[in-house]
Amino acid sequence: MFTLIDGKEVSAHVKQQVKQRVEQLRQQGIEPCLAVIIVGDDPASRVYVNNKKKACAATGIKSLEFALPAETTQQELLALIDRLMKDDSVNGILCQLPLPGHIDEKAVIDAIKAEKDVDGFSNENVGKIWLGDYDISPCTPMGVIELLDYYGISVEGKNCVVVGRSNIVGKPMAALLLERNGTVTVCHSRTKELARFTAAADILVAAVGKAKFITADMVKPGAVVIDVGMNRLPDGKLCGDVDFDSVKEKCSYITPVPGGCGPMTIAVLMKNTLAACEKQNDIQ
Ligand code: GUN
Repeated sequence: MFTLIDGKEVSAHVKQQVKQRVEQLRQQGIEPCLAVIIVGDDPASRVYVNNKKKACAATGIKSLEFALPAETTQQELLALIDRLMKDDSVNGILCQLPLPGHIDEKAVIDAIKAEKDVDGFSNENVGKIWLGDYDISPCTPMGVIELLDYYGISVEGKNCVVVGRSNIVGKPMAALLLERNGTVTVCHSRTKELARFTAAADILVAAVGKAKFITADMVKPGAVVIDVGMNRLPDGKLCGDVDFDSVKEKCSYITPVPGGCGPMTIAVLMKNTLAACEKQNDIQ
C-alpha cells in the first residue's frame, strides 16, 4: 500500500499561512508585490504565469504582469528589470524561463539582484543555499522538502538520490537534502548503471524531463518517490518522469503529476515574495 502525496492539499496549507501574514502586513500599510515577466507566447510558460498570478490573488499578494512580445531585445528586457529593481513598491521580480533564443538567460538572471530574486537563481542566493544561510528558497526543491515535512518523512541518514542536475531543480535539491542530513547522490544523463543508484534510494527525486523514465525495476521496495517532471504526452496529457502506475505498487509514498510538486513550487514562490517584502521593510 502506498500513500499519495497530495501537493494540492499541502500547497493550500502553505498559501493559507502566507495569506494570514499578508493580511497582518496590510494592516501595517505594507502590500507585498510580485512582478512577473513573460517574453513571447510559449503556451506552457503562459500556464505557469497564470498559475503564479492566481496564487498571488489567493494569498493577497499584488501581482504585476509584464507580457512582452517575442521580439523584445535583451536591452529592453534588462531595462525593464532595472526599472523594477529601483521601484520600492515591487518586492519580487520573476522572469519566466525559458526566454527566446536571442536573449542570454544568464544576463537576465544576473540583472535580478538577490533581494528581489524570488526564484533563488542569483549567484548570491545560490551560494547562500549551499551555505545553509538563506531566506529565499529554491522554489521547486523547497516545495519537495515541505511535502516531506508535511508527511513526516525524515531525510536524516537516508539514501537520497536525485536524478537530474539542473540549476533550477537537481543541484539545489541536493543542497537541501544534504542540509537535512541526507546521504545525497546526484545522477544525470552520463551516469553509468543508473538503476544501481536509483534502486538504493530511500528517497528518490526524479527531475530528468523524460516521460515515465523511472520504471518500477529502478525503485527500491518501500521508497519515497518524488516526481518533479512535467512532460506533455502526444495526446496532450501531462505526465511525470516516473511511470506512476507501475512504481506506485512498489513504493511507500509517491507524488502524482499533476497535483504533486507543481502546486508546491508556486506556494514556495509566495513564501519567498513575502520573505523578500519583510526583509525590504526591515521586518524579521
Ligand atoms: N521555468 C520553469 N520553471 C521555472 C521557475 O521556477 N522559475 C522561472 N522563472 N521560470 C521557470
